Amino acid sequence: MARPGVWHGWRQLVAALLAVANLVHGFDLDISSTESLKNAASTAIYGQMHLYQGNASGAIPGKLPGTWWEGGALFMAAIEYWHETGDTTYNNEVSVGMQWQAGDGDYMPSNWSSYLGNDDQMFWGLAAMTATELQYPAYGTYSWLSLAQGVFNTQVARWDPTTCGGGLRWQIWAYEAGYNLKNAISNGGLFQLAARLAYYTHNATYAEWAEKIFDWCASTPLLSTETWNVADSVEVGNNCTTQGNNQWSYNYGTFISGAAYMYNYTNGTEKWEKAVNGLLGVTLKTFFPTQYGGNIMSEILCEPTEICNANEILFKGLTAAWLAFTSVLVPSTYDQILPKLQGSAEAAAASCSGNNNNSCGVRWYTKAWDGWTGIEEQISGTNIFVANLVAANRTRPVTATTGGNSTSDPTAGQDDHSTSTQLAAITTGDKVGAGFLTAGFVTSWIGLLVWMVIGT
Ligand SMILES: *[C@@H]1O[C@H](CO)[C@@H](O)[C@H](O)[C@H]1NC(C)=O
Ligand SMILES: *[C@@H]1O[C@H](CO)[C@@H](O)[C@H](O)[C@H]1NC(C)=O
Ligand SMILES: *[C@@H]1O[C@H](CO)[C@@H](O)[C@H](O)[C@H]1NC(C)=O
Ligand SMILES: *[C@@H]1O[C@H](CO)[C@@H](O)[C@H](O)[C@H]1NC(C)=O
Ligand SMILES: *[C@@H]1O[C@H](CO)[C@@H](O)[C@H](O)[C@H]1NC(C)=O
Ligand SMILES: *[C@@H]1O[C@H](CO)[C@@H](O)[C@H](O)[C@H]1NC(C)=O
Ligand SMILES: *[C@@H]1O[C@H](CO)[C@@H](O)[C@H](O)[C@H]1NC(C)=O
Ligand SMILES: *[C@@H]1O[C@H](CO)[C@@H](O)[C@H](O)[C@H]1NC(C)=O
Ligand SMILES: *[C@@H]1O[C@H](CO)[C@@H](O)[C@H](O)[C@H]1NC(C)=O
Repeated sequence: MARPGVWHGWRQLVAALLAVANLVHGFDLDISSTESLKNAASTAIYGQMHLYQGNASGAIPGKLPGTWWEGGALFMAAIEYWHETGDTTYNNEVSVGMQWQAGDGDYMPSNWSSYLGNDDQMFWGLAAMTATELQYPAYGTYSWLSLAQGVFNTQVARWDPTTCGGGLRWQIWAYEAGYNLKNAISNGGLFQLAARLAYYTHNATYAEWAEKIFDWCASTPLLSTETWNVADSVEVGNNCTTQGNNQWSYNYGTFISGAAYMYNYTNGTEKWEKAVNGLLGVTLKTFFPTQYGGNIMSEILCEPTEICNANEILFKGLTAAWLAFTSVLVPSTYDQILPKLQGSAEAAAASCSGNNNNSCGVRWYTKAWDGWTGIEEQISGTNIFVANLVAANRTRPVTATTGGNSTSDPTAGQDDHSTSTQLAAITTGDKVGAGFLTAGFVTSWIGLLVWMVIGT
């Protein structure tokens, strides 16, 4: 997943001039008012769904141009928006898209599955989990819970103990660049999903997996339980001993979220409390820089130099949402997290002042539109306002015994033959033949595939 963002340098100049002249205003956000937060969220998601176009005639529901995974992030934000505001305007588009891309009930749709990474699939699984926990109305063929279970089942089947003692590779297919990496978002994503399934279903199998995934990550440089550093990736070639230590907020966010669900599910176990507090400490210190006042979130690796790609623009919005639910599931974190969400929303409101139509920019700490425009900016805007509503209202995800009614299918995804579950069963003879055949295929297609991986 990666594609370039859209930079309108000249617009930034105009924006800066107008901001100086004080002619452009963001939303007038009153952070203590639920109504004001709802209005801000409503404005941000209007821009988001305006750019979405997935229900236009001829378009493919749920598929954004040049990227597949972002649809999961878009719908996740929209489901939370619906829950916190009661506004059903976008529900039809959301439900249609969530089902359209479901494949055989596990988010491996055949149009795109041949170049998806585990993290790409995961974001759709997490969106389905969010729909489950927030009692989003049932729609179409697959229940929201079964879709989350389908993603879980297909991913644990790819758990790879033959290298590094375990872990999920970044990519699913050997011909993709990144197959030789095990990364934080893929493993942290599956950890989070397993923890949420445990919390929702009370089925201990999911909790065992969550713990196993977390412990494996902690056995590699991906996750340090001493410093609570989260690295981006490790390499299979050297038994996962060296790290690519890029610092991205969502890598932290996904581990914090999983640990928060495990903490709550286990009635407050020390292991998970330590994990939540340790990871939260690093997150608040790293991604809420003191030079911007300490309460405004920033994707520090790309924002100051303005090199964020489209994926990266989404990271802090995702993280904000996960922090909001963490503040509810681990009540002792509430007082720490709330001011960070509030400071970020106030800054975001000021930066959502672009194009004379309240377009959101990438950076919030500028407190004025920074010249960037795009669906990712809008999604992150929606996320930060909705995260404040989640925290303010202490929205607690439901479980199967506290109102959740989504239909369970513990075997979802297991008969999908498009995944590596089936590949594992291929005999040596088949492999040799396939290898011979694919050599030419891979050579001629490698450029395109690398391009597609990057575009995923
Ligand atoms: C706001 O303006 C930008 C730039 O012209 C455009 O791309 C976007 O679609 C507009 N959004 C809305 C909600 O009109
Ligand atoms: C897509 O959905 C929006 C509501 O979210 C609606 O305004 C628009 O008319 C729909 N477009 C089509 C082509 O159905
Ligand atoms: C807060 O949560 C309660 C319980 O889920 C719900 O009834 C209420 O509508 C929510 N209020 C807001 C403002 O979201
Ligand atoms: C797959 O591609 C076909 C042809 O473009 C399109 O009609 C269909 O909606 C796509 N399905 C998905 C799940 O993207
Ligand atoms: C569960 O209940 C909600 C709210 O009453 C409803 O919208 C949804 O369709 C129900 N889901 C199922 C699977 O019955
Ligand atoms: C590779 O790492 C795993 C756990 O990280 C360890 O159990 C195993 O012994 C290591 N193998 C080698 C060859 O070092
Ligand atoms: C948490 O406490 C509840 C109520 O006492 C109990 O039913 C449940 O089994 C406990 N959960 C775990 C994972 O121990
Ligand atoms: C789990 O979350 C609920 C909802 O916020 C909270 O009331 C409860 O105290 C939490 N459990 C623990 C062990 O903190
Ligand atoms: C618990 O989850 C596991 C893993 O999906 C499944 O095999 C098992 O059937 C589930 N148990 C129940 C009681 O649903």
